[in-house]
Amino acid sequence: MHEDGYLTFALGKGRLARQTMKLLEEIGITCREMGEDSRKLIFQNEEHKLRFFLAKGPDVPTYVEYGAADIGVVGRDTVLEENRNVYEVLDLGFGKCRMCVCGPKSARELLLHHQRIRVASKYPNIAKDYFYNKKHQTVDIIKLNGSVELGPLVELSDVIVDIVETGSTLHENGLEVLEEICSLSARMIVNPVSVQMEGERIGQIVHAIRGHL
Ligand code: PRP
Repeated sequence: MHEDGYLTFALGKGRLARQTMKLLEEIGITCREMGEDSRKLIFQNEEHKLRFFLAKGPDVPTYVEYGAADIGVVGRDTVLEENRNVYEVLDLGFGKCRMCVCGPKSARELLLHHQRIRVASKYPNIAKDYFYNKKHQTVDIIKLNGSVELGPLVELSDVIVDIVETGSTLHENGLEVLEEICSLSARMIVNPVSVQMEGERIGQIVHAIRGHL
């Protein structure tokens, strides 16, 4: 908590932030300023002494680990990939999707025979953990920053490790889910020191959300 008594939330920009604000509204925490269309990054609710800021998803666990935010809301994909020193306290239930190994049908053989394949992903740590620690398969991991489905299409990689929600991106590009790594959804994370110092206030919010879900 900041010395001015404000509890600070870091929210992953975009749909996740909008869904989080909707959920908070439903438990009586509103932030009028935030609904306005502007380039503003920080918003306050003076009545409840709450502050909200919007950040790039992968930066949310960083702000929370360093205590720049007490609480963060971000996808489980980001929590796993960033592997920061934060507590995961709540599954918010929205943003449900899966982390999968995907590729053309022909790549099934390569996976089956534990071939040394190329794996393109926005999530190199998740991919590494899955192939090295769970499957004990040596692979080459190539980090990309988006449109990862291009990997197998332009022969950069044999497979990809990526998020699958509806499956339509895969389908439209002739790719399919080959293996499922884990399920994902939005998570609430908390700074470990904030848990000690502001446990009661954070506990009330967590309790209210849990009761509402
Ligand atoms: C995500 C993900 C897939 C797609 C999956 O990409 O990386 O490409 O959504 O959704 P679907 O199964 O419903 O088709 P995003 O739109 O976030 O953009 P990116 O490719 O630039 O990461």
